[in-house]
Amino acid sequence: MAGGGKVYSFQEVRKHSQRKDCWLIISGKVYDVTPFMEEHPGGDEVLLACTGKDATADFEDIGHSDAAKELMPQYCIGEVDAATVPAKLARAVLPAKGAAAPAPRASTGQGVRLTVLQLALPLLLVAMAFALQNFAKTKTE
Ligand code: HEM
Repeated sequence: MAGGGKVYSFQEVRKHSQRKDCWLIISGKVYDVTPFMEEHPGGDEVLLACTGKDATADFEDIGHSDAAKELMPQYCIGEVDAATVPAKLARAVLPAKGAAAPAPRASTGQGVRLTVLQLALPLLLVAMAFALQNFAKTKTE
């Protein structure tokens, strides 16, 4: 690795978020992809969009080939100090995928609705059983 194991703070890495000065954090390592911007088959925009955060998930989601992974060491300049990476940013995703982000919230809502139903249904059944019993009683009297 080119950087000789240098450790950078997240705040330092995020300063390099331009086309002519672009650093990425992938799997705890810091990559200076500035010389690779124009060559990147996925384009420079996606790389720029991945600055200022942990880009591991974005990188993995693409399903980069082994050949792509072999290119990485030449751009590696060190590691990020994990303690300086804000948890929120570590989980950030590309805006395009952000559209799908509210999904967990929706499923939580569904979960709550299901619990209410699970509680209400037995009560309803008991109430119906009583009603039927009373109905049967009044019929026989
Ligand atoms: C050091 C970091 C990176 C390297 C060396 C790299 C390299 C490559 C290479 C060689 C390809 C061609 C396809 C393949 O061989 O897998 C590729 C495609 C691509 N990369 Fe990266 N990449 C890097 C980071 C990223 C990041 C952070 C993203 C963010 C999402 C990204 C998004 C893409 C996309 C969208 C494609 C196109 C996929 C397609 O057309 O099917 N790459 N990359």
